[in-house]
Amino acid sequence: MGKGFEALFKESAIFANREVLSPHYIPQHLLFRDRQINDIEDSLTPSLRGERGRNVFIYGKTGTGKTSCMKYVVEQIKRLPMVKAEISYINCRVYNSRYRVLSKIAGDHIPLYAKRGYGVIDIYEKVISWVEEEARMLIVVLDEVDMIKDLDDLIYTLSRANSDMKAGGITIVGISNRVSFKEELDPRSLSTLYENELVFPPYNSQELSAIVKERVANGFRPDVVDPACVNLAAAIAAKESGDARLALKIITKAGELADERGLKSVGPKEVSEASKFAEEEIAYEVINTLPEHERLIVYAIALMTINGSRYKRLSEDSESFVLSGEIYNRYTSIAESLHKETKSARLYRRYIADLDMQGIILSYESGKGIRGHTKLIRLAYPPGKIKDMIEKTLFRENEAEVKSEEVASSDAA
Ligand SMILES: Nc1ncnc2c1ncn2[C@@H]1O[C@H](COP(=O)(O)OP(=O)(O)O)[C@@H](O)[C@H]1O
Ligand SMILES: [Mg+2]
Repeated sequence: MGKGFEALFKESAIFANREVLSPHYIPQHLLFRDRQINDIEDSLTPSLRGERGRNVFIYGKTGTGKTSCMKYVVEQIKRLPMVKAEISYINCRVYNSRYRVLSKIAGDHIPLYAKRGYGVIDIYEKVISWVEEEARMLIVVLDEVDMIKDLDDLIYTLSRANSDMKAGGITIVGISNRVSFKEELDPRSLSTLYENELVFPPYNSQELSAIVKERVANGFRPDVVDPACVNLAAAIAAKESGDARLALKIITKAGELADERGLKSVGPKEVSEASKFAEEEIAYEVINTLPEHERLIVYAIALMTINGSRYKRLSEDSESFVLSGEIYNRYTSIAESLHKETKSARLYRRYIADLDMQGIILSYESGKGIRGHTKLIRLAYPPGKIKDMIEKTLFRENEAEVKSEEVASSDAA
């Protein structure tokens, strides 16, 4: 007989409470974010008073605490007595179209409308009359707003709602990790969304240490993790990106390694091993949720790296860079073969800068020599893995998209 699920019930010598270390866990107090939380609260105060407030846009890199702070504020608002404001927190990775967002809003507040099968116009009108009937102030939080495929339509619809309504109003809070996002928006959506902008800066090493330390105190058994290991995980994450999620992932993975090895404590060896895993895991997550055209660009780079010229293969990964201009050509031919409209070279350069910022690619200026002035680019992670992963998501999505579009756009508001 096998060991069955023995491991599932065995007490861990390392972890006390795994839940605390999950990326979805929201700690009771968020360190170093008083100012940001105050700013969010201030900007929503008019809505809470029943006045039409200004829309807010929150920007900051991944793992800077945007989602946690926003959810914290949402909880605070829900607890306030006697306010006319109602709030919908929407994770746009899941609700990634105008239709889905409107359905979610309706479902949050008008229970009968949680059912499927209504068209966009039905739902839109239902939401409007619900807002008007009590002169409500609806706050719509769009987290990872750049994931919405028809965002310009959604923003237009929501701002038109404000002018259509005789009473009450809608305030939009948009949240995004992506720098290049602004440039893709229609200027009208841009001026609607950016009435008020808040920036979440990356954490420095000391801040990350404090965040990790607190989580370790609750998630690990006492004295299992040396303070030096906490600092090491924080320093690695600070150097990489200032991303609290990465720091927490490193320490958690280090704990898992120690657990698997039957150790009694977590040492620096586990931490540095864990950091490799954690960085890669996060990079794959990021790649998986990149906007379509950035994913196509990464895909083009992966293909070119894999099939790259022979002399580069000899030296394996050391210098297997590709030229920016060639990537653009490859990208456009891939996009065309998928019947996608290709983005301009100008936008392409923004995407490259964005991918560079997110640590997915490394880019160098060639200096003089190779065809005048060009960028040399290479992937920061193994191209084979990236290629397989993108193929899975890209081709599956394109099939699903056709189906959902048929349902959702049968009528447009
Ligand atoms: N100030 C903080 N204090 C404690 N934990 C934090 C803080 N900021 C972020 N975290 C933790 O880091 C992870 C990522 O935070 P999150 O709010 O999801 O970032 P973002 O939405 O900006 O990507 C979460 O596990 C969160 O609990
Ligand atoms: Mg987030």
